[in-house]
Amino acid sequence: MKRTKRIGILTAGGDSPGLNAAIRAVGKAAAVEHGWELIGFRDGFLGLAENRWTRLDRQTLAGILTVGGTVLGTSRDKPHRMRIGGRERDMTDTIVANYRKQRLDALVCLGGGGTQKNALRLLDAGLNILTLPKTIDNDVAHTDATIGFDTALGIATEAIDRLHSTAHSHHRIIIAEIMGHAAGWLALGAGIAGGADVILIPEIPYDVGAVAAAIRSRVRRGNNFSIVAVAEGAKSIEDARLFADVDKRKKSARTKEEKDYARLRLTEFESKHAGNTLRLAEQLKELTQLEARVTILGYVQRGGTPSFADRLLATRLGTACVDYIAEGVGGVMIAASGDGVKPVPLRDVAGVLKLVPTDHSWVTAARRVGTAMGD
Ligand code: F6P
Repeated sequence: MKRTKRIGILTAGGDSPGLNAAIRAVGKAAAVEHGWELIGFRDGFLGLAENRWTRLDRQTLAGILTVGGTVLGTSRDKPHRMRIGGRERDMTDTIVANYRKQRLDALVCLGGGGTQKNALRLLDAGLNILTLPKTIDNDVAHTDATIGFDTALGIATEAIDRLHSTAHSHHRIIIAEIMGHAAGWLALGAGIAGGADVILIPEIPYDVGAVAAAIRSRVRRGNNFSIVAVAEGAKSIEDARLFADVDKRKKSARTKEEKDYARLRLTEFESKHAGNTLRLAEQLKELTQLEARVTILGYVQRGGTPSFADRLLATRLGTACVDYIAEGVGGVMIAASGDGVKPVPLRDVAGVLKLVPTDHSWVTAARRVGTAMGD
């Protein structure tokens, strides 16, 4: 007699709206169409290493479609570098043993760029892995969209809409800091949709003098307020050069000493850069003689009810994932492609970021409506 398949699922990395919709889609399609069992590991790869899990049946999956966050919990733990009992350990072998102990036929990992890399490591360790792309940053390669981006875009756009009336009333510059360390999709999309006057993204290093000039020219045209949408990873031209240097050193590091040193330099750079938006406000205040204020949108962008587009995307990708498992396809990320989906080998996705091309149609459209991009 054919054994019922047993599938594991986990959510890893930063949470994003629509994760529960995806868990529900995988679980319902697996149970309804195939009678398979689904179990969920708690808190990402950490729960897999510690074998903490819960059964996900049709009852437990009911009512979670519209709920934000993840019912499974999440963490940024990596299988090969996990803090257990106060020290860093490689838990790959334990994870493989737990997968076997659970008699799993496949493990579905929902995550962003980091998760795709960790999933590939586990694939190489012998597990049958499939992933779904999720992150509010929209920076996973080879997929048209990631689960959570649309909701975050809506939240950030609404924030910019609301900032307009207060900036206008007080004749101020208001800088809205939007999430996105490496990729500027969210700041760019929300900046365009919300009509920001200046948009700064990591892919286009900015010259603070050019930003101030754009604001001053608005004042000359009678607009004595401005909204600046800045991605948290946006950098001045000088900082971008420094960062490229540190990043190059990290990528070329071979020995443990070199790697540790490069990591330290990167951490130093990141902690210095953390207050960048506040510094930018001070600089703009001085250069324009206008009052400047900062609003950091932060985790609000990741919270709450997923948009209808994210629920739809999550349901499409989650149900398609079950089809691929049934066909015996593994080692892939289920990507959104036009109206359909496509399996992309994990090896092609892991370690590749989808950055905003500087000639992307969103960038061109922003420039054509007079938005300054800081360059
Ligand atoms: O998941 C992506 C992201 O939301 C980034 O945009 C942001 O920089 C980061 O996560 C914050 O991470 P954490 O949850 O670890 O503070």
